[in-house]
Amino acid sequence: MKAAYITQVGSPSTIQYGEIDDPEVGPMQVLIKTNAVAVNPIDTYIRSGTVKLQLPSPYVIGCDIAGTVAAVGAEVTQFKAGDRVWGSNQGLSGRQGTFSELAAVDQCWLYPTPANVADEDAAAVALTGITAHLGLHLHGNLQAGEIVFVNGGTGGVGSAVVQLAIAAGATVITTVGSAEKVATATDLGAEHVLNYRDVDVTEALQELTARIGRINLWFETLRNPNPDATLPLLAKRGRYVLMAGRDARPEFPVGAFYVNDLRAIGFAMFNASAEEQQQSAAEINQLLAAQTLKPLIGARYSLSEAAKAHQLQEDNTLNGAGTLSGKIVVTV
Ligand SMILES: NC(=O)c1ccc[n+]([C@@H]2O[C@H](COP(=O)([O-])OP(=O)(O)OC[C@H]3O[C@@H](n4cnc5c(N)ncnc54)[C@H](OP(=O)(O)O)[C@@H]3O)[C@@H](O)[C@H]2O)c1
Repeated sequence: MKAAYITQVGSPSTIQYGEIDDPEVGPMQVLIKTNAVAVNPIDTYIRSGTVKLQLPSPYVIGCDIAGTVAAVGAEVTQFKAGDRVWGSNQGLSGRQGTFSELAAVDQCWLYPTPANVADEDAAAVALTGITAHLGLHLHGNLQAGEIVFVNGGTGGVGSAVVQLAIAAGATVITTVGSAEKVATATDLGAEHVLNYRDVDVTEALQELTARIGRINLWFETLRNPNPDATLPLLAKRGRYVLMAGRDARPEFPVGAFYVNDLRAIGFAMFNASAEEQQQSAAEINQLLAAQTLKPLIGARYSLSEAAKAHQLQEDNTLNGAGTLSGKIVVTV
């Protein structure tokens, strides 16, 4: 089969495109004929070696997948040939990734694709949608009527947080980096959108929270979080959800934290159990089918262009290029 893979870590140019062996299908696995995959920042960290994992060789890149079931292992009970499925959490913990014409995936990481949802859309919202849902609900205990803040409302995770928080009855404040993205985030339903290149976000939030109330759940997607500025903006019992910035060492204002009964919660999506991810996926599926959740796709490539797709992700997530709105989808 054709695949995008690496045999050593390095720059995007280490990604090769070519023939590798078809995967073997274990008894609990589903063989998927891949139609669409998506790029996530973690794919670039694994490829570059910044996040060091034990990788099979060749290592097929990618976490997210959507496609059609081609065959199932002897003990698979949830799916049959011909079903459309999507999933995430691949390419981790010794598992092969998804950027290949065929992928063998444990059934526990797969979900049925609603009939009215395109494979590109399902792939686009896989890892980011599950991450947003876990952060808001499992970890953030979001309640209807609360105020949520998320940085990067048109980013991969941010655009999912905006939509899932609104679906849960929250008011959403977000930041973006251009006037065009203000319009996009507003279309996604965010009530208050700040252009971080035009305004001082902390000052704008001080003024806004004085009017509408302080923030109940701060979903931090930036790699350089700033608790000094953030914690005074949170309501009593506010939750400060941290999920990016492995090397960040910010100052932490202890007084602002404990005097308001705040909680700081860290999480990584890939630590969630299969059951927890299934719960998130079930709700994502309902919202996708109802078209309440509309995946934001900012760039499309073919599988042979996987290196270009990684370069674009890296330029934006690591180098702040601002040239991407939403997800990069690769069709297979
Ligand atoms: N813990 C987990 O489980 C988990 C899961 C997924 C992702 N992550 C991490 O979360 C981070 C975000 O992932 P992603 O997929 O959403 O990346 P992404 O699609 O590249 O989004 C990054 C967002 O950050 C925004 N941004 C950049 N600089 C900003 C600033 N100074 N102020 C406000 N916003 C700013 C960008 O806005 P503009 O484009 O408008 O400039 C963009 O929307 C990454 O570090 C990733 O590794 C962690």
